[in-house]
Amino acid sequence: MYFIANWKMHGNTKDIERSNSILKLSKLKKYKNHKIIYCPPYTLLKDFYNKVKKSRISIGAQNCHANSDFGPFTGSINSKLIKSTGAKYVIIGHSDNRNQGDNDKNINNKIKSALNENLKVIFCVGEKLNEKKKNLTYSILKKQIVKGLDKINNFENIIIAYEPVWSIGTGLVPKSSELKKNINSIKKILSLLRKSKKINILYGGSVSPDNAKDLLEMVNINGFLVGGASLNAKKFIDIIKKSIN
Ligand code: 13P
Repeated sequence: MYFIANWKMHGNTKDIERSNSILKLSKLKKYKNHKIIYCPPYTLLKDFYNKVKKSRISIGAQNCHANSDFGPFTGSINSKLIKSTGAKYVIIGHSDNRNQGDNDKNINNKIKSALNENLKVIFCVGEKLNEKKKNLTYSILKKQIVKGLDKINNFENIIIAYEPVWSIGTGLVPKSSELKKNINSIKKILSLLRKSKKINILYGGSVSPDNAKDLLEMVNINGFLVGGASLNAKKFIDIIKKSIN
């Protein structure tokens, strides 16, 4: 199981201390085989890595530039720079970034550049509310996955995070039947690409200690990508505890 904390645009150096209780938890035998990954803002990657490097916790970035080479891209961070901080993962295709101009082609280039640097990719896909209402979810997921993974053959370092956009930060989660249907759609799309074998699929969107267990009972997924609740160490721990019996 994966438990990934996406801190988005939150956190300063002091907030890294929030991982103390998670560090303790990660050492317990019961949790040893599970993956806990913190994705703080770029500014905290190195400090966070230094804090957890002797533990089983890993660090990831929240985005990267599509260009692997260094160059005149003011304000941007590429996968080489991310790798140099000690981070092992990167979130790509998050709806926050799709909303700010990321498209399938650009996302595909970002994924390729991250894989070239041996980073593991947390590839986010999901439909918007109006797309769901128009019954377009399957075709949106298919477009995002097929185009996002175009000309990528090695899926070993890719994790898919299904994040319905309407569920992010709203307190709403899909109904059981809906979640099952959409996760099965993702599996079907991956099998059409004949690359389904090793891909882990996570769910993200308003995951909380109150719904984590129910979500896991609804459908066979490999963990959660957690936004808001991951900023609170107790809530993040509770999500982990409720998910693992
Ligand atoms: P929330 O958990 O705050 O809904 O955010 C989900 C998310 O976007 C994680 O990437």
